[in-house]
Amino acid sequence: MLHDIQTPIADDLRRYADVFRQSLRADNELLAAALAHVTRRLGKMMRPTLVLLCARQGANGVTPEVLHAAAGLEMLHTASLVHDDVVDESDMRRGQRSVNALFDNKAAVLVGDFMTSKALAELALTHSLPVVERTAWLGQTLADGELEQLSNTHLTTFDEAAYFSVIAKKTAALFSTCACVGALLGGADDATRATLERYGHLVGLCFQMRDDIFDFDETLNVGKPKGNDMLEGKLTLPVVHAVATAADADTAATYFRRLALKVRAQEASRLEIQELVDFTIRRGGVAYAEQRMRQLRDEAVGLLATLPASDVTTALCRYIDFVVERTS
Ligand code: IPE
Ligand code: IPE
Ligand code: MG
Ligand code: MG
Repeated sequence: MLHDIQTPIADDLRRYADVFRQSLRADNELLAAALAHVTRRLGKMMRPTLVLLCARQGANGVTPEVLHAAAGLEMLHTASLVHDDVVDESDMRRGQRSVNALFDNKAAVLVGDFMTSKALAELALTHSLPVVERTAWLGQTLADGELEQLSNTHLTTFDEAAYFSVIAKKTAALFSTCACVGALLGGADDATRATLERYGHLVGLCFQMRDDIFDFDETLNVGKPKGNDMLEGKLTLPVVHAVATAADADTAATYFRRLALKVRAQEASRLEIQELVDFTIRRGGVAYAEQRMRQLRDEAVGLLATLPASDVTTALCRYIDFVVERTS
C-alpha cells in the first residue's frame, strides 16, 4: 500500500535519499560508524513522502529546497528516535540494534545531537525564514511532548486529554510541519497550506495511536520491542480508556486503577503488566482507540475533499489509510 503511494514519486524520493545520505558524512570514526548503522535501515520514509506530496500540490513543485526540507525533517525524526531509544531504554529499532544498545547511551546522545544540527543545516538550505522558524518551534514542541510524557507518569488521573496533548506534541507536530513546509515551499496558497497542515496534524495523531495499539499486539513484527510502553510507565489511550470507564461499572475497578498507578510508577511485575494488558483488551480499550483513530481519519479525508481533486489528493487519501491500516 505504501508502495502504491511512493512509486509515482520514486524519482523525487531517490533525489531526496541522495541529499539525506550526503548530509550525514563524518570524519570521526565512532560517529561515522554510528551514522552508517543508523542509515542502514531507512524506515518507511513517511515524513519525506508527506513533504514531497504536499509540495506537489503547489505551483513550484519539488524544487531543490523541498528536497533539503524533506531531508532535514527526516533527519530530525531519525535523531529523535536515537534519543527516544535512550529515554525508553529500548534495544531494537528498525529491526536492528538501537544505537544505545550497539554503542552506549553517551554515544547515542551525541549522535542524536549531531544529526539534529545537520538537520538544521539542511533546513537552512531552504533559504526560507518561515521554514526555519517552524522547525525551531518543532524542536521545542517535540522535547516538550517527551517531557510531558515523562511527567505524566506521576499523574493519578486517567483522562484522554493528557494523552492527546502528548501525542499532538511528540508526533503530530512533525507531520503537520512536513505538510506545512512542503506546501509552503511548493508554492501552495495560504488556504491550501492551512488545510494540509491540519490534515498533517490528524495524520500524526492517527500515526501515534496506531503505534500505541501495536504495543498491545503480540502477533506483529514491527522491528522494535512490544509491551515497552507499560514497562516504561507509559499509559496510552487503550488503557487510559479502559481504566477510566471501568470506574463506575466494574467491581474490580479499584483493583485495576491501583494496578495502573503501579505500572505508571514502574513498580509492577511483568505478570501484573500482562494482567493490565488483558484487562485493557477485555474492557474494549484497544477497540475504542481504533474507533477514535478512524474518526480522526474520516475528519482528515473530509478536509482533503475540500481541495480540488488531483493525483495528490488521491495519494494523500491513500497515505492516511496506510497510516491507519499499517502493520509495521
Ligand atoms: C516511529 O516512527 C516513531 C513514532 C512516532 C511512533 P516510524 O514508525 O515512522 O519510524 P520509521 O522512520 O519508519 O522507522
Ligand atoms: C514516539 O513515541 C517517539 C517520538 C516521537 C520521538 P514512542 O516511544 O512510542 O516511539 P517508538 O515506539 O519507540 O518508535
Ligand atoms: Mg520509544
Ligand atoms: Mg511506541
